[in-house]
Amino acid sequence: VARIPLIAGNWKMNLDHLQSIAFVQKLAWALKDAKHAFGDVEVAVFPPFTDLRSVQTLIAADKLELAHGAQDVSMHDSGAYTGEISGAFLSALACRYVIIGHSERRQYHHEDDEIVAKKTVAALRHGVTPVVCVGETAEDLETHGPSAVPMAQLRVVLDALEADADIVVAYEPVWAIGSGQAATPEQAQQVCAALRTTIAEVLSEDAAARTRIIYGGSVKSSNIAGFMNQKDVDGALVGGASLDVDEFAAIARFR
Ligand code: G3H
Repeated sequence: VARIPLIAGNWKMNLDHLQSIAFVQKLAWALKDAKHAFGDVEVAVFPPFTDLRSVQTLIAADKLELAHGAQDVSMHDSGAYTGEISGAFLSALACRYVIIGHSERRQYHHEDDEIVAKKTVAALRHGVTPVVCVGETAEDLETHGPSAVPMAQLRVVLDALEADADIVVAYEPVWAIGSGQAATPEQAQQVCAALRTTIAEVLSEDAAARTRIIYGGSVKSSNIAGFMNQKDVDGALVGGASLDVDEFAAIARFR
């Protein structure tokens, strides 16, 4: 099964409205310019909620080969949930993806695996592809080794899904996020392969073969090639380095 690599830029709570617009225009230009170098690579940006509409409008108006997604979604479809954004709203904004269970949501908003599973199901219900984040802390790594915690986190989500569910899994070791200390390509491969085995066990071999599993944590243009050369790493979820257009475009040109 050919899995199209995904290079995803998670802006987190960065880039104001004008910067977002300038970014998308410049990125689209950089991607167009270098099209021959991309081959089949999907590039997606994840602005804050407040800029989803303008990014959507820009992409549609200029027919840019760029996808956009949100950084979180409610587990509920509508109702008295002040401050929440439903999958239906994201779908109406043409979001192709939504990041779910990022370690910052798990840490600062106490989202556990059950909540992540419910949000994943909610996104799928509205036709938005979840990018489900899993990953171990430095302490987990020391106590349980590299794969046990991410595999257990993913299993809870997979248990809630139909066998034909279309998701992306992002392996993000918490110790590598924003630290400048990325996992080695071999470490990333080891855990991504273990996650693929988990998908085969819980969903199906077919689901394991077609699901994209991407790596995140201090990815930059100078280390992306090492990750993309790994058999089970199908792309990257990029934080800090996705805020600089030239750097992000260079990451998307990994080959
Ligand atoms: O969602 C992105 C990750 O948290 C990675 O962030 O590239 O700044 O380490 P980073």
